[in-house]
Amino acid sequence: MKVLGICCGRKNGNTEILMKEAFKAIEAKCGAECNFVRLQEAEIRSCVGCESCMINHLKGNWDFRCVHKNGSDHFYFIEQLMREADAIIVSAPAYNLLPPGILIRFMNKLHASGNYRDVVHKEHKIGATFTLGGTDWTNYTLTAANMLTMELVGAYDAVVDKCHFDFVPGVGAIVLEEDMLARIRKLGENVADALMEKANGQTPAYRGEAGLCPDCHSSFLEKRADGWYCPQCLTKATLTWANGELEVSFTPEEQAKNRWSPAGQEVHDNNIRKGHMKAAGGKDIIAAKRKEYAEYKDAVALPELVKE
Ligand SMILES: Cc1cc2nc3c(=O)[nH]c(=O)nc-3n(C[C@H](O)[C@H](O)[C@H](O)COP(=O)(O)O)c2cc1C
Repeated sequence: MKVLGICCGRKNGNTEILMKEAFKAIEAKCGAECNFVRLQEAEIRSCVGCESCMINHLKGNWDFRCVHKNGSDHFYFIEQLMREADAIIVSAPAYNLLPPGILIRFMNKLHASGNYRDVVHKEHKIGATFTLGGTDWTNYTLTAANMLTMELVGAYDAVVDKCHFDFVPGVGAIVLEEDMLARIRKLGENVADALMEKANGQTPAYRGEAGLCPDCHSSFLEKRADGWYCPQCLTKATLTWANGELEVSFTPEEQAKNRWSPAGQEVHDNNIRKGHMKAAGGKDIIAAKRKEYAEYKDAVALPELVKE
C-alpha cells in the first residue's frame, strides 16, 4: 500500500512536520509506504485557459494532456505518484485565508491529467486533509484544500478525516503543540485503518469531526437566489429555527443531486455543453465584439525580467 502526501508549505516547516508525524502513525499501524511531494519546489506551470485538454477529452481523446508538455512541468511526475497511491493526504498552510497559490495552480492542472479523474471516480482512493495557520485568520484554508483532496480521491465520501490548526506561526513551532501532534497522529491512524478496511473489501467511513454538511462535513453555507447551499457539494439545505438555534438539514432528495453524484455531474456537463452551444451560435457577434474590445485597450506592457 502506498500513501502520497502533498505539501505546499516551507521546507521542513509546520505542514511537513505534521505530514511526517502522520506518516509515522500510518507506517506503524499498517506498514504502508509513505512519501510526500513539496509543491513549493515543483515547476507547476499555470493553466493558460486554452481548454485544449477539455475539448480533446470531450471528444474522447484521453491521450491529450496539456499544451505544457511532460518534461516542462512536474505535474505529470506527481500525477504518476497519485495514480500509484492508495491514499492521498493534502496539506496546506494558510496564505491570505486560503491555501497557497501553488496548490490552487496544481488543482487547475487536473484537467491535464488525461483519464485520472475518470479512473478515480470509478475506483476511489482514500483521502485526508489537514491545514494550519499562524493565527485564526484561516477561514477558507481547510475547505479549499479539502476540495482538492475530494478531486484527487474521486469522491467526497472517500475523505476519511480532515482537521485544521490555528496559531502556529513560527517555522517548526508545531513541535511545541502536543495536542496538535496527537490529532495528526490520529489522522494518520484513521488513514491506516481506512486502508486496511478497504483492503478487506469494506467501505471506510468518515472519522473526522462532523461539519454542517453530512456529505463533505464542511461548515460553510452559501446564500444563493433560491436558498442556502453547502458550497462544496452544491446540496440545497433546509434551515429551521428551533429553540433559539438555527438548524441546518439536507433532504435525501437534495443530497442525491449533489455536485459529486452522477446526476449532479450530468447537470454540470450539460451546462458546459449549453454554454458552448450558445457561444457557437453567436460566434460572429463574439468575434466582432472581441475585436472592438481588443482595439479599445490592451493590458499594461510588462517590463523584461532579469533571470535570477
Ligand atoms: C504569504 C503568507 C500569507 C499568510 N497568510 C496567513 C493567513 O492569512 N492567516 C494565517 O493564519 N496565517 C498566515 N500565514 C502564516 C502561515 O500560515 C504560517 O506561518 C504557517 O505556520 C506556515 O506553515 P509552514 O511552516 O508549513 O510553511 C501566512 C504566511 C505567508 C508566508
